[in-house]
Amino acid sequence: MLDNLEQQPADALLALIKLHDSDPRADKIDLGVGVYRTGQGETPVFGAIKAAEKRLVETQNSKAYLGPEGDMGFVEALMPYIFGKDAPTMGGRIEGMQTPGGTGSLRLAFAVAKRAGITRFWMGDPTWPNHPQICRDLGLDMASFRHATPDGTADMDGIRAAIAEAREGDAILLHGCCHNPTGIDYTESQWDEIARLLADSPVLPILDLAYQGLGHGMEEDAYGLRRVAVSVPEMLVAYSCDKNFGLYRDRTGAFYAMTAEQDQLKRVMSNAHALARANWSQPPDHGGAAARIVMEDEALTAQWLDELDQMRTRMRQVREKLAAAGKVGGVDLTPLGHQNGLFSIIPFTPDQVQAMREKHGVYFAGSGRINVAGLTMGNIDKFTAAVAEVTG
Ligand code: LMR
Repeated sequence: MLDNLEQQPADALLALIKLHDSDPRADKIDLGVGVYRTGQGETPVFGAIKAAEKRLVETQNSKAYLGPEGDMGFVEALMPYIFGKDAPTMGGRIEGMQTPGGTGSLRLAFAVAKRAGITRFWMGDPTWPNHPQICRDLGLDMASFRHATPDGTADMDGIRAAIAEAREGDAILLHGCCHNPTGIDYTESQWDEIARLLADSPVLPILDLAYQGLGHGMEEDAYGLRRVAVSVPEMLVAYSCDKNFGLYRDRTGAFYAMTAEQDQLKRVMSNAHALARANWSQPPDHGGAAARIVMEDEALTAQWLDELDQMRTRMRQVREKLAAAGKVGGVDLTPLGHQNGLFSIIPFTPDQVQAMREKHGVYFAGSGRINVAGLTMGNIDKFTAAVAEVTG
């Protein structure tokens, strides 16, 4: 039987990690998978998380099961950051559960939507490659709308047309902030319009918030999600702590459902619990427990938010320097200055992507997506010189 299986290609983003690691050149540059790096090129554990982990080791007296919902202290502590301090539960219409990373929460959100009768998912083009992959694996149909205009801003006509065409049984996936792979987010007034359009549409919104705090700040990056939440009757949220707590390999995320009526919530969450049980049974505990300890402690919270500020500030500096370079060879880096988060797309051709790797040791996704956090004041000039040479 097993011989019936066909060979699958390695995941293109994750394969970049090994490709970069096996390059012997000392001055190689890794702009591949989305992890934050300091000005020294490192991805350290947050100081606040280290302190919380120490406390966890000292105080945890059991590793007995918690149940499919995981650490509800963690799930509830996140809610004011996501939904706002004044409306963390929308009058009892929102509940969540812990998931294995952002991918776990997306998988759960899509599966819950499917159980509820959703058959088609709208997503922007481009989007994170794992979004369509999860959809395909669940046997769901997909429809797409153009996410970005050629001048590097959000394509409002694309999303307007998608919402207008969406029918009962459709869901629409929106990136809350720091769009992956383009870095192109909706402005506040664009979110206002999107929330208005969604309010008049039967489409179920699914908000993917994987980079909160890496764009403009924890509050600012939740603007769109909160606008949608107060405008529509129901929605699902997939949340990741990989980046804003630096918990990548500890697989820490959360799923939230907001229902139209309070009395529907228990039923919806019972489906989410059942789906989790059938997939991973229960989420890994460590990352969620550490993040909860941070959020429950005022001093650790301040330290965490300060560390997040430093990350964001460094990425802004890199973006400013890239934008200041302006036209480099055949490409214009100016739009990168007003884009957000870890990623932006540079319109390289496939041959140029290969030349950047082979001639210059610069690794990034085949789509032309670069992780700006891989650039430092020490390697950015080498990068722009390589871009000029390859695209000129
Ligand atoms: C990325 O897009 O690089 C990150 O979200 C990591 C991943 O799992 O792909």
